[in-house]
Order: sequence, then structure tokens, then C-alpha cells
Amino acid sequence: MPDIEKVSPSLLLKMKKEKRKITMLTAYDYYFAKVVEDAGCDIILVGDSLGSVILGHKNTIPVTVDDMVHHIKAVSRGVTRAMLVGDMPFMSYQVSREEAIRNAGYMIKEGRAHAVKLEGGESIAPTVGYLTDNGIPVMGHVGLMPQRVHEMGGYKIQGKSPETEKKIINDALSLQDAGAFAVVLEGIPAGLASKISKKLRIPTIGIGAGPGCDGQVLVIYDMLNMTHERLPRFVRVFSDAGAAIKKGVADYIAGVREGEFPAESHTFRMSKRKKAD
Ligand code: KIV
Repeated sequence: MPDIEKVSPSLLLKMKKEKRKITMLTAYDYYFAKVVEDAGCDIILVGDSLGSVILGHKNTIPVTVDDMVHHIKAVSRGVTRAMLVGDMPFMSYQVSREEAIRNAGYMIKEGRAHAVKLEGGESIAPTVGYLTDNGIPVMGHVGLMPQRVHEMGGYKIQGKSPETEKKIINDALSLQDAGAFAVVLEGIPAGLASKISKKLRIPTIGIGAGPGCDGQVLVIYDMLNMTHERLPRFVRVFSDAGAAIKKGVADYIAGVREGEFPAESHTFRMSKRKKAD
């Protein structure tokens, strides 16, 4: 069997140079990891979005490093070619750089992530530098940072004024200088995302940031409409699995109640006794 080229920071850089779009999706368990991997997605993100999508929290704030490791481990069992990135949850990298590296190391050693993602720009660049200097690949995340939901007063598009635009550009550049191999641009105007993507040597991965990024990411439950929440405007439902799942569950309940399931074909019979001679 020919060797497959695993996705690495250098392959992602090459893809950017060759203008090949990078694909990234979230996954939180083995089933979805295999679906995403087998479809050829380049990066699988175990996002701290699992806080709301999987664990039913209101936001990502309560997610712990142990929650992340539990899900990264499951996803890692379904990954062969893709790069597996794990989100560092709120307050797992801000207290000190020692704590940041211990947590990132745990996500890589125990969880089997290939890289970690941190939200923040210039202010966390020294931590990013410390991680990358010690061999931990880091993906940055600027613009709308969901871990700052309380500071933002909700999930609001960032970078609309000249000052905030300048700050986001500076944040992205600081992460690149600190050694990040890619940066997620979330919830910013498309023009700003294109500008940053042109300025940076490393790839940008957009979500709600328009088509000018080097790659795109979505939460898999959103693009399959498997959610109880209203979908953000930037999401496209690529397949309405949510509707199919609801129908399947309702049909099962009706089938059992009406005595129509299990049918003969789902039923085992005792083997026939041999007739006595
Ligand atoms: O937590 C997450 O899933 C993310 C992506 C949406 C970028 O950070």
C-alpha cells in the first residue's frame, strides 16, 4: 500500500502556497472522526464547542482539560491521515506558561492530539512561543473568541471598526511570529479576513470570515443540522441529518408501539427438536 502523506504544518504551508483550500471540521467521537477522515478532510478539530454540542452547556466556559482528553482519545482512534487538533479550554493556558505546557502536553501524550489550539492574540503570544519552542504545534484563534463570550456580551462579529481591525491584524501577526502554524479567523468581516490571509505566511482557517481564507472550518453538528439551537448565519446545512435522525427515532417509537417492530426478519427462532425415533 503506498504511504499516505499525513497532514503536517509543512503540508499546510505547501497547500497555502499552491492555493489548495484546506478543509477542517470538528469531531468529538470515533464515529464522526472516521466519517470525516474517510471523506479526506485535512484537519479534525476536537473543539471546546463540545461543551455546548455534546455536553449541553450554555457555552464553552465550563469545559475541562479532562473533558477534552476524553473526546480527543476517542477521535484519535479514527484518524490516520488528518491532523488532529485539540482545543485548550478556558483557563487551561492563561494562569502560567508552565500550566499551559503541562495541559498541552497532556492533551498530546494522553489524548494523542497532534497539535493544540488556543484563543487569543498578542497577549498570549509569549505562551504560544513557549509551547512551540518546546515542540508543541500551535494553531491560533483570533477575532470572535467564544471563550470571551462574557467579555463580548454575546457572540458578536469583531473587527468592524478601524481600531479593532488593526488589533486583529496585529494579533494574527503576533501568533505567526510566536511560531503558530495556522490561525483560525472567526466572526470577522470577509474583507479583513482576506487582508490577513494575504499578509500571513501561515494558513488562515475561516469560520464566519468569508471565502478569502486559506481554509474553512465548521462545527460538524451545525452543517448536518444536528442541533437544538438556531444556526448562525455563516453555516450552510450540507445534509439535513438532524431531520433524518428525528424521523428515525419517531418511526422506531411508532413501530414498537404498533407491534410492527421487530418483524419476522429481525427475530431468532429456537432450533427445531429432532423427532424421537
Ligand atoms: O470550538 C470549536 O469548535 C472551534 C471552531 C468552531 C473553530 O473553535
